[in-house]
Amino acid sequence: MQLKLPLVDNNTTDIRKKNVLSSPKFGGSCDIDSKPYLKELGIEIVESRQPIQFTSNFGEHVHRWAPYIQGFSSSFVQSILDQYKNDYKSPVILDPFAGCGTVLTQGKLNGYKSIGTELNPLLQFIADIKVNSWDVSPELLKETLSSIPKNLKTPAPEFLKSENQFNKGVLKNLELLKGGIDSIPAKTKEQTKVKNLILLAFSSILIDCSNLKRTPCLGYWKNKKVADNVPWILMEHKIQDICKDLEGLQVKYKKNIFVESKVLLANAMEYGHKHLFDLIITSPPYMNGLDYVMNYKIEMAWLGFTKEAKDAKKVKDSLVVCDNVSKGLIKTFAQLNSKYTNSWIEEIKTNIEENIKRRGNYRRNDMPYIVHKYFDDMYKVMSVVTKSLRANGRFILVVGDSLIADVYVPTDLLLAKIGIELGLTIEKVEKARNRRSGQVRNYRLRETIITLKKEQGMQNNGR
Ligand SMILES: C[S@@+](CC[C@H](N)C(=O)[O-])C[C@H]1O[C@@H](n2cnc3c(N)ncnc32)[C@H](O)[C@@H]1O
Repeated sequence: MQLKLPLVDNNTTDIRKKNVLSSPKFGGSCDIDSKPYLKELGIEIVESRQPIQFTSNFGEHVHRWAPYIQGFSSSFVQSILDQYKNDYKSPVILDPFAGCGTVLTQGKLNGYKSIGTELNPLLQFIADIKVNSWDVSPELLKETLSSIPKNLKTPAPEFLKSENQFNKGVLKNLELLKGGIDSIPAKTKEQTKVKNLILLAFSSILIDCSNLKRTPCLGYWKNKKVADNVPWILMEHKIQDICKDLEGLQVKYKKNIFVESKVLLANAMEYGHKHLFDLIITSPPYMNGLDYVMNYKIEMAWLGFTKEAKDAKKVKDSLVVCDNVSKGLIKTFAQLNSKYTNSWIEEIKTNIEENIKRRGNYRRNDMPYIVHKYFDDMYKVMSVVTKSLRANGRFILVVGDSLIADVYVPTDLLLAKIGIELGLTIEKVEKARNRRSGQVRNYRLRETIITLKKEQGMQNNGR
């Protein structure tokens, strides 16, 4: 099994290798580089190893409806809900970065009201269906799928170059399957829910039908062989799973079916909530992490959320920044007079700038400003959502730190620092797991759970 990686010229590979081997961070770890920051905050990080990633959800009811690598494990969300079950009788929950809706789904399974915001329209669609279709009749769902016409064709999205992503026979069957789904009527509320569940199932099988794999980034998988009729088989299996889960929900979780849960297509940096929340449980994008749009470009296009390549770019540029955003966006940001900053960010920016100059070449020379924009974006989000946190409410953030141009960026501690500036207290900072990311693979990073609290009588200090 081999992934076909993008072509890189040998010269660039050599420079990269040389930079990695000569990196002062080679073999280092975040534990050492965090020390001065921890000292300034006056805190320690405690170990709390746990399976925090979505992969453990693949066999779980509702969560398994859509595969999403960047999500939480349901057991992590449940552990938070259990931890605070005596502090809040029936907590109202917010996830400003809802993704595929793990927090909201788990909240609803517990009978708790929840709201999420998500800017990727595909993920918002998936998350919303996962929490708002529990009353759909499994029989109707099965019947609808089995009665779709098999001779109507919806052409594959033109701009995607689908013939590279799918075998010829598979592509033909996907077009016929999509044509059949598109012909399902959606005049009543029930018909709309059924059609949306079928569309969700269709989006969930696309990568398995393709010559691609997410590892976690989307890449070609050289030895993958997909039979022509796989779209129909996988679709049927997916709908069977959904029906089985609906049957279970309608018996075991009957009283939770209509518990309010909303996923809004909205920007967490701006959206002013009308509700007050007891718990904010969330995970922002990780800096130099994944591209949440390009990784889902196939599903987004097939479901009609993007009509041309530039639509995806527009969504990407509106998210909390990742290192794959357009240069123009960063240039405009650099020229802004008013930005959030603090002494840690300024020092990190200067160090990155110097290291890039020393190396003479880096993937993006505007990296200092990408880093700066990340914290400016996160300041906006934290500022907005803190205002909606009830007194005694908790704000739980899961995030990974980074190593950028040999400069350690303690993203977790920087977000905790921003929390303090906004009037919150740091209740605890826990390490959930070690991780590796970026070029210097033997530098040890971590994934952290930060618990911030809004004490009674605390002022909102945000902008
Ligand atoms: C780490 S993922 C969250 C996954 C989620 N915890 C789950 O279990 O599915 C971060 C999400 O934040 C979304 N996002 C990034 N910037 C955003 C913004 N400004 N407003 C709303 N959502 C945003 C991304 O599209 C991505 O889905």
